[in-house]
Amino acid sequence: MQIPCTDKELFIFKKIAHAAEELGVETFLIGGFVRDKIIGRDTKDADIVCLGDGIALAHKVAERFNPKPYVAYFKNFGTAQIKLDGFEIEFVGARKESYRSESRKPDVEPGTLEDDQNRRDFTINALAISLNKKNYGELIDPFEGLQAIREGVIKTPLEPLQTFSDDPLRMMRAIRFAAQLNFVIEEETFNAIVADAERIKIVSQERITDELNKIMLSKKPSIGWDLLSKSGLLQIIFPQMMALHGAAYVDGKGHKDNFYHTLQVLDNISRHTKDLWLRWAALLHDIGKPATKRFEDGHGWTFHGHEVVGARMVPKIFTKLKLPLNDRMRFVQKLVELHLRPISLTKENITDSAVRRLLFDAGEDIDGLMMLCEADITSKNKQKVQRYLQNFEMVRHRMKEVEEKDHLRNWQPPITGELIMQVFGLSPGKKVGIIKDAIREAILDGVIPNTYDAAYGFMLQKANELNLQPV
Ligand code: CTP
Repeated sequence: MQIPCTDKELFIFKKIAHAAEELGVETFLIGGFVRDKIIGRDTKDADIVCLGDGIALAHKVAERFNPKPYVAYFKNFGTAQIKLDGFEIEFVGARKESYRSESRKPDVEPGTLEDDQNRRDFTINALAISLNKKNYGELIDPFEGLQAIREGVIKTPLEPLQTFSDDPLRMMRAIRFAAQLNFVIEEETFNAIVADAERIKIVSQERITDELNKIMLSKKPSIGWDLLSKSGLLQIIFPQMMALHGAAYVDGKGHKDNFYHTLQVLDNISRHTKDLWLRWAALLHDIGKPATKRFEDGHGWTFHGHEVVGARMVPKIFTKLKLPLNDRMRFVQKLVELHLRPISLTKENITDSAVRRLLFDAGEDIDGLMMLCEADITSKNKQKVQRYLQNFEMVRHRMKEVEEKDHLRNWQPPITGELIMQVFGLSPGKKVGIIKDAIREAILDGVIPNTYDAAYGFMLQKANELNLQPV
């Protein structure tokens, strides 16, 4: 074997080789598994291609294991899967058609190994390893995929327009691999993406977003977003993001390019967290800027309220991108809305009540918010950065102090609506809300301490103002 496999993998491949020999079909390991082993990345699944019936081979392989694994197969597509100890193996017969596991076109024409390799997306994904007796373990590399891996280049085996027209999702995959592997896309291949970008419209949003999330989770996601922008794909799939581009000038005063600032924030945060949603929050934190951009005489460029406008855009963007419309979306929305708060705290005299409000509004997401704010410092001026970081330390310190004193994380006011109704014999209604809100505000403002007794006393006083007496 010319790739570094584990003993378990070698054991499985031997069994596959024997089953294939018994059936009399030539069989090869191919695709992402071979690529990732050569690169030294983790692998969790392997693709097997055979010159014959992939489903029959999967059944034959399954018989050789005890207990016998379940064979999931899709007759229309001629594919089958078995899972061994969490290691997933997919079987397919070599085909002339474009290789697409989710292809809607069920009738595929059988082909040679060469046909199959021809129709794969990139040369780095077209490497095969023989599982046949005559040359077991030999690398079959007709497109110099190994060389492409060494050089870090993504290119199509055939003429790129042909490869992309077989499956336009591959344009996104090229960019995703470039981001994940830190490879460059060969010029002719990239030009074909530029020329063909419009065809991305025929691909389902789910598959596009799958690729976006993979870009987001790569080590340096800016590589992917920048290529999406330069290829013209971004304008089609996510125009709000493109609108961040450009630095306008009035009277010689410019503002920073919000697109590249955003990418820098995204890369900054990605050095500290693998959390997909925190990364989405970084990507979207300034998304409201284009809509709020003004030039004010005497002030220069302003983006007043961009955090509120941005937060309002989040559900629309999540809906369009078919990202989940659940607590993840609300988390991203909350961080976009609050992303200026810790910074603005550092500009004033940090009062207890301002710190309390921030802790209350951010709740359990305060750590994520602080991480986003720190990532948002992208000034090239070292002294400025130093000052911001020191201020942040101060905010952190003050938060800790207030936290220790007031225990405000995941805080609920000590007096509930239920209790207010009980004490004054009220049914649910406006007055209950007024009293409850007043207690919460009094505690956050530091008018009363965060204790049951103080809140109870304050409740009686507030109720008195509303002409309410305990029953
Ligand atoms: N493939 C292709 N065109 C596609 C999708 C897949 O040619 N649109 C081929 C490639 O040879 C690829 C293999 O099918 O290597 C397996 O596809 P998939 O599992 O989607 O990708 P991997 O390359 O394994 O990478 P990853 O698991 O990171 O998605």
